[in-house]
Amino acid sequence: MKSVFVSAPAKVNLALRVGARRPDGYHDLDTVFEAVDIFDDLQADLAPDLRLEISGLGENLPVDESNLVIKAAHLLQKATNTQQGAHIKVHKRIPVAGGMAGGSADAAAALLALNTLWDLELPDSRLTELAGELGSDVPFALLGGIARGTSRGEQLVSIKPGTLHGWVFLTSATGLSTPEVFHCFDEMFPAAGNPPATTQLCQALTGSDLSAIAQEMVNDLAAPAAALRTDIADICAELAEFPGKTILSGSGPTIAIFCAAEAAESLAQEMQEKFPSRTALAAIGPVTGAHIRRVEK
Ligand code: C5P
Repeated sequence: MKSVFVSAPAKVNLALRVGARRPDGYHDLDTVFEAVDIFDDLQADLAPDLRLEISGLGENLPVDESNLVIKAAHLLQKATNTQQGAHIKVHKRIPVAGGMAGGSADAAAALLALNTLWDLELPDSRLTELAGELGSDVPFALLGGIARGTSRGEQLVSIKPGTLHGWVFLTSATGLSTPEVFHCFDEMFPAAGNPPATTQLCQALTGSDLSAIAQEMVNDLAAPAAALRTDIADICAELAEFPGKTILSGSGPTIAIFCAAEAAESLAQEMQEKFPSRTALAAIGPVTGAHIRRVEK
């Protein structure tokens, strides 16, 4: 029985500039993504029907049509007119509803795995198009590295990074709904226009000066997310005295601390003691996007 094994990374937004709500309900963004080395693993086995199992952090997630992995499989079946099926197992390490695009990573992993499992031979450009139909962050989960995202976040331009970065993620056991955070943004900023440009950050990222990068990091969803979750404001207030740069990851509630790559592990230990209500994860970035690790016949 043929099997394909894929891993796909979590992301953090070094900048997330948000514009006004569009007629289609989405917001125009100017954002900078970085893929970090926290991976979800996906195994797809050839089978007559479509089935999904989840282990790790996402044990209670739905495994029906509402899951992005099943949506990805159906989209691929429809786009290529194939009736083939798969039994898919996802092992999750990326926090669920944490602002780190775990669901998008799984969707990207499913597209890549099934393209090979079903011998579809779709080019990367077509997989990226399908990824954009599944969600705004899915194309980046395929691409990886560092990239500037515009429109809904799905129009990507890669940035060649000047150096590796370290991260400590303070993850929460309770997630936050992205649509709710955007809705709260609309209420707080009814006069939002075009999103401010991230040009200076993109420039700084081609170099190795971490303080120049940190200076340009900003997340427009920080205020609405903190309005919905008091723990975000509390932790950020405590971290304000800390010399490192702290930023909300995506729509939260994960809080990300930016540091030198070699400092991440010891900083994570320190942060775990300081914030016992959260789980501190050390990571480095940028790393590769969704990739095939193994194929078995
Ligand atoms: O694209 P995705 O399905 O991941 O987006 C989830 C939700 O986040 C959307 O339904 C929308 O409420 C919000 N969103 C937005 N503007 C974006 C991306 C997401 O308003 N650019």
